[in-house]
Amino acid sequence: MGWRDQWLVSLRLDRLLGEVPKGPIVSLAESSGAGSAALRDYPGSKAADGVYHRIIGLMPPHELYIEAFVGSGAIFRNKRPAKASIIIDIDADVARYWRAHRPASTTVICGDARSRLRDRTYTGRELVYCDPPYPRSTRRWQFPLYRHEMTDKQHRELLATLKRLPCKVMISGYRCALYDRALTAWHRIDYLAPIHRPPHFAVESLWFNYQLEALHDWRYLGNGFRERERIKRKQSRWRQRLSSMPAMERLAMLDLLLELATPGTARGSR
Ligand SMILES: C[S@@+](CC[C@H](N)C(=O)[O-])C[C@H]1O[C@@H](n2cnc3c(N)ncnc32)[C@H](O)[C@@H]1O
Repeated sequence: MGWRDQWLVSLRLDRLLGEVPKGPIVSLAESSGAGSAALRDYPGSKAADGVYHRIIGLMPPHELYIEAFVGSGAIFRNKRPAKASIIIDIDADVARYWRAHRPASTTVICGDARSRLRDRTYTGRELVYCDPPYPRSTRRWQFPLYRHEMTDKQHRELLATLKRLPCKVMISGYRCALYDRALTAWHRIDYLAPIHRPPHFAVESLWFNYQLEALHDWRYLGNGFRERERIKRKQSRWRQRLSSMPAMERLAMLDLLLELATPGTARGSR
């Protein structure tokens, strides 16, 4: 039995997770039960504070969310759900877990993300987020973390597919020559992510193929904890002021906000 199998057995992923009360997946993140600990400890999970905030805070509006390499789904669990979602993982245990815990609007696919992403039809209103196993060249330890890992050739195939998709795409990983060469034309941001447990951090990167003009989930606006808190406090002050206004005055403020958000649009006789 390999390291990954032993880890899965000791974690008893689906049994542990099965103990978490059923309900909307988003609530699992707040739960302090054994299930949420198992989710947090999934190798390569994006569940650390600051990490999922940063990634979701760069997601543009979308109707269909496709998360490939979902694992414990830290991003999927914490983002505002799209109208419909598709999550993909090649590991049968991971897929089984998600089939038992998915929200109704979510389809779970157990399969190879490379071909599943390549062979589907797109409308352009999708957001695809990928968090594949890290390329071997970026790892300090070479033992497998997952039952299914990816060779450099498979990473190159994945990147070639992602570059052809006619929709918005994000991909997480560590910088390396392979990714830098393939994604030169994409935007990239770097952020610190804890390795296993803080205080050890590594610089992770997120590449994306679009200009960010609006967010799917405004709760994560802001670069870093302080900025997000400042925006939250401002929102709460504005909420108080707006909710104490007469309804017509509030709508006048809304009209003004829409005008500011879409400059050049004639709105009445101001
Ligand atoms: C870095 S982990 C994802 C972690 C995830 N973002 C989270 O928050 O838990 C990579 C995942 O990719 C899956 N995987 C590996 N090769 C795959 C492939 N070819 N297609 C789909 N999933 C794959 C692994 O089973 C693993 O769950």
